[in-house]
Amino acid sequence: MRRELLDVVRVDEVGPYRLLRLKRGRLESGAPGQFFMLSPPGRLLPRPMSLSLATRTELGFLIDPVGPGTKALTTLVRGERLHVLGPLGNGFRLDVARPLLVGGGIGLAPFPYLSERLGRPPAVLGFRSQEHAEAAALVPNAEVVVEPRLVTEALRPGHDVLACGPEPMLRAVAELDPGAQLAWEAPMACGYGACYGCAVEIGGELKRLCVEGPVLERAA
Ligand SMILES: Cc1cc2nc3c(=O)[nH]c(=O)nc-3n(C[C@H](O)[C@H](O)[C@H](O)COP(=O)(O)OP(=O)(O)OC[C@H]3O[C@@H](n4cnc5c(N)ncnc54)[C@H](O)[C@@H]3O)c2cc1C
Ligand code: FES
Repeated sequence: MRRELLDVVRVDEVGPYRLLRLKRGRLESGAPGQFFMLSPPGRLLPRPMSLSLATRTELGFLIDPVGPGTKALTTLVRGERLHVLGPLGNGFRLDVARPLLVGGGIGLAPFPYLSERLGRPPAVLGFRSQEHAEAAALVPNAEVVVEPRLVTEALRPGHDVLACGPEPMLRAVAELDPGAQLAWEAPMACGYGACYGCAVEIGGELKRLCVEGPVLERAA
């Protein structure tokens, strides 16, 4: 884990989402599903983001602009710089025989990188609209389902499921496949175990999701 000041390359539109592309500096890309704390300009606290794309020269973060932090991150322009800390937490286990990526909405963010590392396995991606579904183009071999159809209706048995998405989707996936690897979210202030802002109950105990997760092999 290290903290660096990275240069913005540019921000691409991907349907309603934005792909923030940064010069990589000396940061490691880490395991897919690990995250980075990105410091927006101004007095805002850093925001946790999964790494979406990694090349030799760039790191890419797919961001849903839902509030002040994500809006500040997606309106950066070339020439601006921001502090990035990571990689943090525990990512997906990659020693799986028949991977199937299952994502909901912006939960697909870690999948372009995960798909590359796993040799482009099949994916099932669910979205609330056709416009949101444009982001599926970032993930090879993806079957797209748009509401009212749900990803759980498209799940196929006999796979090792790696899932990321909204909490109700993760709970439904865990119900169908108790062995699934699930990437959870919680509000995070520090990202490395110091503030307890991300504490969730796991197996009856309070755990810090930024340290124990965000990828867990059981429901949080
Ligand atoms: C490990 C991890 C990885 C993430 N990866 C991505 C990613 O790749 N792309 C992406 O767009 N977003 C990702 N997120 C979510 C992202 O960090 C939040 O959307 C962001 O911090 C919101 O900041 P804001 O200032 O824009 O909005 P805020 O005003 O802070 O929040 C907007 C709304 O989202 C809710 N919210 C904020 N943070 C979270 C959270 N972490 N979990 C659930 N609800 C939350 C708030 O309660 C509020 O309703 C990730 C979160 C975690 C924990
Ligand atoms: S975000 Fe601070 S302890 Fe997890």
